[in-house]
Amino acid sequence: MRLTNLILIVSLFTTQILAAAQWKPGDSCPDTIRTLVPGYADHHGEEQEDRRSFHTMTSVHEALLQCPNITSLDLRVTLLGCSNWPDRFNFPLSLSGGEKYANLTQVKLEGYDFAESVWEKVQYKNNPSYHTSRWWPEKLLYWLQSGKAQQYLGYRKLDAGQRNKTNLELWADAMDWERVETLALKDCRGQEHFMEIMAPRLRSLKNLEIEDGWSNLGNTTVPFIQALEPDTLHNLAWREGRKADVLDLILRRHGNSLRSLEIRNGEGPRSSTKAFNSAQLQHLVRSAPKLEHLSINVHRNVSWPYDVFDTIAEMKELITLDLWFDILSDCQRQKPEMYTRQYIEWEREMENKTFKCSGEERYQKPLVDDISALGIFKHIRQKNTSGTVQKVVFWVGDWSRSWDGPLYSESFLEGRRARVVCTPTDKSEGEAWCVVEEGEAYWDSGRRTEYWMD
Ligand SMILES: *[C@@H]1O[C@H](CO)[C@@H](O)[C@H](O)[C@H]1NC(C)=O
Ligand SMILES: *[C@@H]1O[C@H](CO)[C@@H](O)[C@H](O)[C@H]1NC(C)=O
Ligand SMILES: *[C@@H]1O[C@H](CO)[C@@H](O)[C@H](O)[C@H]1NC(C)=O
Ligand SMILES: *[C@@H]1O[C@H](CO)[C@@H](O)[C@H](O)[C@H]1NC(C)=O
Ligand SMILES: *[C@@H]1O[C@H](CO)[C@@H](O)[C@H](O)[C@H]1NC(C)=O
Ligand SMILES: *[C@@H]1O[C@H](CO)[C@@H](O)[C@H](O)[C@H]1NC(C)=O
Ligand SMILES: *[C@@H]1O[C@H](CO)[C@@H](O)[C@H](O)[C@H]1NC(C)=O
Repeated sequence: MRLTNLILIVSLFTTQILAAAQWKPGDSCPDTIRTLVPGYADHHGEEQEDRRSFHTMTSVHEALLQCPNITSLDLRVTLLGCSNWPDRFNFPLSLSGGEKYANLTQVKLEGYDFAESVWEKVQYKNNPSYHTSRWWPEKLLYWLQSGKAQQYLGYRKLDAGQRNKTNLELWADAMDWERVETLALKDCRGQEHFMEIMAPRLRSLKNLEIEDGWSNLGNTTVPFIQALEPDTLHNLAWREGRKADVLDLILRRHGNSLRSLEIRNGEGPRSSTKAFNSAQLQHLVRSAPKLEHLSINVHRNVSWPYDVFDTIAEMKELITLDLWFDILSDCQRQKPEMYTRQYIEWEREMENKTFKCSGEERYQKPLVDDISALGIFKHIRQKNTSGTVQKVVFWVGDWSRSWDGPLYSESFLEGRRARVVCTPTDKSEGEAWCVVEEGEAYWDSGRRTEYWMD
């Protein structure tokens, strides 16, 4: 059996199982939708609300059309494992227009495909031949059989501006985006398309969360943030994709309104994260006077960067602080992954050297534990005796969600992490202010409690 046929059968089969339990017009309306498409438990075992009802994009689309009271949508669409396929990666909005969605105030999307153009898809020239044959009669036959030819003829009657619309442009017509206060986009297809056209419509936006991840098109994020109404953002989180010197651009536009700022990258197995230096952080002190929460990458290299901590301590309103530290040492980053040919060569080269980048040497120094964290926590609080800083969380290593897609081989970095939480709340001086909540002695294979291969 051809693989394509097999996939077709498998996906038809799973779609049918799902179809039984999906929300349909006439069912009672929810106020919020939070779901993963396709369904089933995700690898974190997170409890999904509305689990049974919204496991297809079509069912969510139907609910948005039928239930004007839905205010919040939190949706992730993805390939789960090797065999769970979503019915599609975006909502089946009609190209003819005229549909009306509930006016959401909160939109959180992961994996959604904004850029798809149905008109482009139904064109003969963009029609993939079923058996990848280039013989035109077969290609034509497939175009006819797939139903795209009929769609093409139907859409040809629409005026050129309408039929050209992308999925996002159709959604933009179907909903009043001016009411959206909270927006989160993570690894969406065509996320840059969203960035390019939506800023002028988002006039009430207060909370923005962007994660560029693999698409890594951070170059549209800054223009998007700049195109929002000035001093309207209260909470901004931008993970991944950041280019080094954007802080100033963002602060000039939204510094006066920002209460919470998260701007950081996750650690990769080969390169260190980018961190702001003390001079760049000075901008924050001056330009974001109301900041109560800050979350950033911090570099250390043999010693702690006290100049960075001193600058942070100058923030007048700061209450909570998340500091993200890399876990891998420079030599570990250069070390090839195990079981590769490069690794064997690397081992041979190391044979006669005393420094082997093993054990503790694989981890960045200084090591983060309750004692080193307490030193920094006290330092920050002593710098500012008014003591507004109530909590500092030290994050070390890889906190990204573990992979739940098709098979791949994991790196040394994956899942290696630690978290130390420091707070004086409900504790008297002298009681342990800092507690290692995860990754106790992460550098010591004999002492740590988590199971990792070394
Ligand atoms: C939406 O909310 C209004 C006002 O609370 C209520 O009257 C109406 O019945 C609701 N509509 C649906 C479809 O639930
Ligand atoms: C959404 O808002 C628009 C404009 O404010 C309004 O015309 C439309 O009826 C609203 N849609 C729903 C479903 O309430
Ligand atoms: C439709 O889109 C194509 C390419 O996406 C563009 O060249 C063309 O100008 C567009 N036409 C209209 C009427 O917007
Ligand atoms: C962003 O980067 C991509 C790929 O490097 C490029 O094609 C695109 O033109 C850039 N966009 C802007 C606004 O600079
Ligand atoms: C750490 O410091 C050493 C010595 O000053 C330098 O050679 C190395 O490049 C630094 N590493 C990083 C990641 O900055
Ligand atoms: C400490 O915080 C107060 C406001 O709480 C501020 O006025 C002062 O400048 C800060 N001191 C230092 C040394 O940053
Ligand atoms: C390591 O030392 C041994 C014994 O002295 C020698 O035979 C071998 O060639 C050395 N390996 C390398 C990579 O220099």
